[in-house]
Amino acid sequence: MIKKALIIYATRTNQTKKIAELIAEGIRFGGAEAKVVNVNDFDPDKDNPKDYDAIVIGSPTYHGEMLQSIKTLLFKLESLGLEGKIGGAFGAYGWSGEAIDRIYNTMLHVLKMNMVSDALRLKSADLGGGIQMAQSYGKEIAKKVV
Ligand SMILES: Cc1cc2nc3c(=O)[nH]c(=O)nc-3n(C[C@H](O)[C@H](O)[C@H](O)COP(=O)(O)O)c2cc1C
Repeated sequence: MIKKALIIYATRTNQTKKIAELIAEGIRFGGAEAKVVNVNDFDPDKDNPKDYDAIVIGSPTYHGEMLQSIKTLLFKLESLGLEGKIGGAFGAYGWSGEAIDRIYNTMLHVLKMNMVSDALRLKSADLGGGIQMAQSYGKEIAKKVV
């Protein structure tokens, strides 16, 4: 059966959304399905993370933190039992990008997911040059699930 990845992101000015869509392209190039949802539209009854082979989560950094909607999401996912599921984390940032490693580490240490080697950090100013990096990140995720 074809493998599926769910990408959930938060954004204020759409940079992190763009990265989410590029990661999805990479996943599809890699031979898996990818669905992209804004965290505000995420409904675990409709898109149960347990039905996906990989979960990828992204947030920009504002004032040194991830957006509240992603914090809430990580608490929700804690009760779903995603141990061992493949995971990735990403985000757009300006200069420090704390959100990205915090999401990655929460998925690794709390949700105990099987994380790809690293998180994807893209400076919004360099997003043009980051297209390939985001697609490659998607391919890396696909490689792990297919
Ligand atoms: C008020 C404000 C605070 C910010 N704080 C941070 C920060 O603490 N660290 C950082 O790396 N970038 C920071 N940024 C930059 C954003 O992370 C960057 O613009 C990012 O591309 C936004 O992504 P989004 O379009 O997905 O919301 C800040 C931006 C604004 C407007």
